[in-house]
Amino acid sequence: MHLQGPFEPPNGALMILNPKAKTLVANRRGSSVWKVETDSGPYAVKVGYPSKTHTWTALAPAREAAVLRQLTPERILSAEWEHGTWNAQPWRHGDSLYELWEPHRFETSPPAPDLGEALSCAAALAALHEKGWVHGDVQPAHFVIGRSAGTFLIDVALAQGGKVPREYDFSYHGCLVHYEAPEISGSVLRTGYAVPTRESDVYGLGASLFISATGSRHVDYPDDAERWEQRRAIVDKPHRDVNVPGVLGKLIDAMMSRRIADRPSSIEVCEELRAAM
Ligand SMILES: Nc1ncnc2c1ncn2[C@@H]1O[C@H](COP(=O)(O)OP(=O)(O)O)[C@@H](O)[C@H]1O
Ligand SMILES: [Mg+2]
Repeated sequence: MHLQGPFEPPNGALMILNPKAKTLVANRRGSSVWKVETDSGPYAVKVGYPSKTHTWTALAPAREAAVLRQLTPERILSAEWEHGTWNAQPWRHGDSLYELWEPHRFETSPPAPDLGEALSCAAALAALHEKGWVHGDVQPAHFVIGRSAGTFLIDVALAQGGKVPREYDFSYHGCLVHYEAPEISGSVLRTGYAVPTRESDVYGLGASLFISATGSRHVDYPDDAERWEQRRAIVDKPHRDVNVPGVLGKLIDAMMSRRIADRPSSIEVCEELRAAM
């Protein structure tokens, strides 16, 4: 079934959360996300449904809830609804890395990117890795950088590392190609599937910092190219020159190494950034 959305938070969610207000934040690729104000603070409510290209998007919120419950003691709600599953999770305050670094992309003489902000993103990824998890969908919209709350790496729907109920699990088909490591693109092209790793997460972090600082995708391919053509380019072509100055540029270049073993770990990225500050 192909549905368009957006879909309202289902009754089950409304009954438990009893929202005072709700705002639609995103609706794309089989997922409607709402910011919901409740007596116990704001929540993000994600409503999953089958998308044009995938059916697993309907299961993603329940899968994410199962992952979140292993990562945080906070209240995570989840259930099924007519067209799929939904979850509710604490709302993370802040701007995404992509929003925060907008001045670097548009101002004529922008300041150098803030190493502390880059470090907070690397640290959020390293914290997940240290818990034994791989994120699998690292992208600049998924780093929420708060002034006081710190930086959160959101959207763990594709994360791997613990147990997920079989009825809500699905295999990994790659992530957003703009942040996809060459070995993941290659595997998806060959088999339709891939295995996300800490190293592919680090590649995604490099590509996320790069696009946020420069506006350029890691590899040069046409906007309107089919997904498989974009993956072909990621496999066949070197990544763009990293024209970001200083330590950050060198680190982004290393994170996007084609040779997996040459990439620094997320912990090493943190150490290098800390040493440069
Ligand atoms: N817990 C959260 N706190 C704050 N914003 C969130 C949260 N979850 C999702 N969002 C917002 O909604 C957008 C889409 O959510 P995401 O989890 O990436 O779902 P999907 O990829 O299914 O659209 C995010 O980029 C972010 O702006
Ligand atoms: Mg997402």
